[in-house]
Amino acid sequence: MLIQQHGQGTDHMSKIRVMLVVGARPQFIKSAPLISEILRRHRRVELSIIHSGQHYDPEMSEIFFHQLHIPRPMMNLEAGSGSHARQTATIMKRLEKPMLQAEPCVVIVPGDTNTTLAAALTAAKLNIPVAHIEAGLRSGDMTMPEEINRRLTDHCSSILFAPTKTANSNLRKEGLNELAYLTGDTMVDTLRIVSALVDRAQKSILERFRLTEREYVLVTMHRPFNVGDLDRLCEILHALRDVSRRLRVVFPVHPRTRSRLAQLKITKQSRDQIGLTDPLGYVEILSLLRNAKCLLTDSGGMQKESFLLHIPCVTLRSTTEWPETLVSKANQLISKPDSIATTLLNVAYDRTLRQRIKHLKNPFGDGHASARIARIIEEWVRSGEARPNRLG
Ligand code: UD1
Repeated sequence: MLIQQHGQGTDHMSKIRVMLVVGARPQFIKSAPLISEILRRHRRVELSIIHSGQHYDPEMSEIFFHQLHIPRPMMNLEAGSGSHARQTATIMKRLEKPMLQAEPCVVIVPGDTNTTLAAALTAAKLNIPVAHIEAGLRSGDMTMPEEINRRLTDHCSSILFAPTKTANSNLRKEGLNELAYLTGDTMVDTLRIVSALVDRAQKSILERFRLTEREYVLVTMHRPFNVGDLDRLCEILHALRDVSRRLRVVFPVHPRTRSRLAQLKITKQSRDQIGLTDPLGYVEILSLLRNAKCLLTDSGGMQKESFLLHIPCVTLRSTTEWPETLVSKANQLISKPDSIATTLLNVAYDRTLRQRIKHLKNPFGDGHASARIARIIEEWVRSGEARPNRLG
């Protein structure tokens, strides 16, 4: 029944049913502007949001729904944490029935998390067309779960929304160009939307952490290869203590990192020295980023946000899915913890770097990607072109 429906197109009277599946912090951020664009079309499009439950702590999930005005999901699958296989499989098992019941014309999956892949596979196996937001990113590092997720998701999708020219050309190289649209990055839309909130919040955030504008380094670190191995984590902390002798450090801690740090029994003095604090909401982290001297991270999204806010970035990874950020040393990749202190301090005291970044071309779009994506999806479904992946 589903297959027949998808091939037929939708007449102008009936509403299109669209399902969006999210579950992890970066997905809430990327989806918020797209959700509001789809909701603007509520007379013609019916949206159901499903939360996989991959992220469940209030500061990893609820706060983003609140700050970004995302409506309550229709359902939370409460998949929770676990190994990659267990987490992906749990989401798939729990998603199948609601997907069958809702009979969406298209399932939208943003990003590259286990939730993304699980939802894409579940829909594809039910012959429901999949729309992938942030398609075509490639780091070339297949040891990262996100690289596996994004490649597989692209290849079982029916329509692909590339955020950058590089991503679009990656899709072309893999023979997926017929399905691809270059729209810009929805995260630029999100930044545009929250910019006024950040303006208002920044003074109180700096006061709360007793920080002075441009006199601190912001740190975020959560990838298993950085925080999973306690020896490597100790080396990173050691480097941050070195940095803190010259510059204040503030380090909002992801739950995985928090549980690894708990095993190290860090003294109160060291915690204060490297500025350890709980995970923060989106407005708060952007306020800290915007006023920082530079950023040390292993996050994908933060590399891009720092570029867009003209903050120099050092990434503790040997590859990136955002090569656009590497131009003019706006972002530098380093892999060894013992080069953190020297690199960060060089970046922090490079007097012209921020100015140089300010003059770089923005490759991530104009902040209106979500409107484009919502329009293309609606037209595509109405045209009858929305079918399970025709390639392969
Ligand atoms: C996931 C994404 C990653 C993204 C990150 C943002 C995958 C493969 N990775 O990684 O791309 O950058 O989200 O955070 O999907 N935990 C909690 N509370 C929570 C969520 C997680 O305590 O609300 C802890 C659990 O111990 C869990 C660990 O954090 O095992 C990791 O969480 P998980 O969602 O599996 O992966 P992330 O590292 O968050």
